[in-house]
Amino acid sequence: MKVYKILYIAMVLLKEKLKEIQTENIKKEVKVGIIGAGYVGLVTAAGLAYKGYNVLLVEKDKEKLKKIKQGICPFYEPDLQRYLLEGIESGRLSFRENISELVSECRYIFVCVGTPIKDDSTYDMYYLDIVAKEIANNLKNDFRIIIIRSTVPPGTGRWFKKAILRYRRGVKANFEVVSMPEFLREGNAIYDFFNPSRIIIGSDNYDIGKEVSELYSDFGAPILIVSLEEAEIIKLASNAFLAMRISFINSIANLAEVFDSNIENIRLGIGLDPRIGTEFLKAGIGFGGSCLPKDLSALISVFNNYQINPILFEAVKIINDERIDIFINKIKKALWNIKNKILTVWGVSFKANTDDIRESPALKIIPKLVQEGAFINVYDPKGLHNFQSYIQKNYPHFSNSIKLIENIYESTVNSSAILITNDWDEYKRVNYYNIYELMETPIIIDGRNIVNPLEMREIGFEYYSIGNNIK
Ligand code: UGA
Repeated sequence: MKVYKILYIAMVLLKEKLKEIQTENIKKEVKVGIIGAGYVGLVTAAGLAYKGYNVLLVEKDKEKLKKIKQGICPFYEPDLQRYLLEGIESGRLSFRENISELVSECRYIFVCVGTPIKDDSTYDMYYLDIVAKEIANNLKNDFRIIIIRSTVPPGTGRWFKKAILRYRRGVKANFEVVSMPEFLREGNAIYDFFNPSRIIIGSDNYDIGKEVSELYSDFGAPILIVSLEEAEIIKLASNAFLAMRISFINSIANLAEVFDSNIENIRLGIGLDPRIGTEFLKAGIGFGGSCLPKDLSALISVFNNYQINPILFEAVKIINDERIDIFINKIKKALWNIKNKILTVWGVSFKANTDDIRESPALKIIPKLVQEGAFINVYDPKGLHNFQSYIQKNYPHFSNSIKLIENIYESTVNSSAILITNDWDEYKRVNYYNIYELMETPIIIDGRNIVNPLEMREIGFEYYSIGNNIK
């Protein structure tokens, strides 16, 4: 009986192992093409290669591609470089010169090109159009599934399909377009890739949606197959909702300050209602980055375009824009005079764990302080190189007033105040006793409510934060 049981268990284990090997082999056979090696494209490429797929990547920026081929990540994203290298070394991540090669080799083609926003706050479809043309010119008899991962306005997937057919000029084509929005956060992209909250697949054809969902069947996430436009709206609505939560709490923070209350207590009190939750309700100097501000503005344009009232989203944007002046006023009120003073800014990337400075609040705050005669010492764990290029390009005449400093302690020497503008963990770990000694006047104005007010005040700092006037 015992021997029989052991044999039975061994057989089950063997069967499981064989199934695993079989799945691995099937995955190796599946060729996935990725167009564009930005945040979404590169994370998807490295992630799918790690999952066992045979991934082929095309990137038109030759310099960028050269780095990637050497296993160097062209931007800072925790752990991405490790996965990139592992993909290249395993042979599961390789590169192709152009889109035509992807079209001839891959059944699945992920489109991850940029959709920057134009001056009129609408998305620029230029790169998507180029990709549509390239694909159209290279489609043969084999069926191809083109999966749009770039953030786009509703209607794009359908336009993309139409564009391909137009470029084909009546020559039959065997393809389907799927919309599959991405919900990665910069700085957490690898974690988010392997632990997605949901997989949204938009397709006109349920069977195709189901086929694409199979690629993600072992991610342990709920999979929702919807229409093309529904998927596109889900993406924009998700980012708008997140933006709305931030503007909501920032508005409440303004009220909390009037009554010398602590916004953190209020956040907890609101968020303990399970219908609301405490996540993404941190008050501060507003949301930045390449997604929330851009997608919100674009959503307003989409609403206007269809004559729908965008008042809710306009309010979210106005409240966010106001955060900058509210912070500047806080600084001026705390310091009395800022002219000829050294102010230390910690944080030029739009949030922690990224070197991305796009739409970072600090980009607006620093020039305003310089205009008022302040000298700025800037520190950021990863964002200084991007900030340097930004200042050289946009404010070359300010370069004498802005000093980039690579050591956090050094950035505070003779400073009249530390202004915290993003939320790196490093700011919690530094020795504030030392910093207290280095500064001219020990004042901290914390735009991200990241350090402990009680500890700061115990050391002797004058500490100000957002939504908290308690002395
Ligand atoms: C955002 C979304 O969170 C992702 O789900 C989405 O995939 C991505 O945009 C995109 O569309 O590609 P990301 O821009 O990387 O991700 O950054 P978030 O973590 O959303 O933060 C955005 C801004 O909001 C930051 O400036 C952050 O400091 C601020 N924030 C965030 C707050 O002020 N309070 C909060 O409670 C949370």
